[in-house]
Amino acid sequence: MKNIGILTSGGDAPGMNATIRAAVRTAHVNGLTVYGIERGYQGLIDGQVKPMGPRDVSGVINKGGTILRTARCEAFRESEGRRQAVQTLAHHGIEGLIVIGGDGSYRGAHDLHTEHGIPCIGVPGTIDNDIGGTEYTIGYDTALNTALDAIDKIRDTADSHDRLFFIEVMGRNSGYLAMMCGVAGGAEAVLVPEYPPDYDALIASLRNGAALGKRSAIVVVAEGAGTAMEAARIVSERSAFTDSRVVVIGHLQRGGVPTAFDRILASRLGYAAVNALLEGEADKMTAWEGKEVLLRPLSTAWEHKTRFHESMGCLAQTLAS
Ligand code: F6P
Repeated sequence: MKNIGILTSGGDAPGMNATIRAAVRTAHVNGLTVYGIERGYQGLIDGQVKPMGPRDVSGVINKGGTILRTARCEAFRESEGRRQAVQTLAHHGIEGLIVIGGDGSYRGAHDLHTEHGIPCIGVPGTIDNDIGGTEYTIGYDTALNTALDAIDKIRDTADSHDRLFFIEVMGRNSGYLAMMCGVAGGAEAVLVPEYPPDYDALIASLRNGAALGKRSAIVVVAEGAGTAMEAARIVSERSAFTDSRVVVIGHLQRGGVPTAFDRILASRLGYAAVNALLEGEADKMTAWEGKEVLLRPLSTAWEHKTRFHESMGCLAQTLAS
């Protein structure tokens, strides 16, 4: 193998640049030429490809976002889109591909390998931390700390005004990020898609907290559990908690300087992805488990989605007492 391609796909995540840097430099040390593909699979279809050397990734380890830019590409879901992408790969002599993204991006990589035999290696990059087969995804730790910083700040004003806040955090269909925000931020309650919402129980617990002397309350709402606005409305209709405030942290969680943890994770997984291609691996993802970096089938990502530990809900509830 002489030429490899690298792209970022789906939602950007802090640490993607550190992954690109690790992959480009590992490839260079091993005598490979790296082609950076801009705007994910869309750029692959459109032929947005550029060679990348070690100096092209200088000064990016501490930058959020992705220097390769990213996209959610509908066309790549179709075989015709993938056929066009293969033409771009052939044009540049690209023999293997590194795909940094979430499980939707991995499905595309899996199809590319199955239909056209292109060796693809996935690197888990998403703030949602919902990819099966790996304990952590690149960007999750930074997003957690960013959201936590916001929650801490909201606690100051919540305490000052004796107020109830509903804070919505991202995570798509997963409550992982929200649950960890709730535990780390000392939230009074966490609503996650993994459990059906029980508003009567929520109201009872808010009343109980007030009776026990709590002056403020924070309810973290995972976007997959419904909006924070909706939760505030339901609670206000069914109780005397009618003067709450709603904060949607939104895309703030996706940007910013990656934490040390994310930079190290990104560096190790980016390095491992290039070595996997050099060793002839295909249709695999790099994964982190304990202190080890492993390779797992790409399908693990969507077949065994990562969930928070089942004890976390009980922990959050107990510690909110
Ligand atoms: O997958 C990452 C993520 O930030 C999710 O948490 C969220 O649901 C989604 O992407 C938002 O996507 P977009 O930036 O396309 O609105």
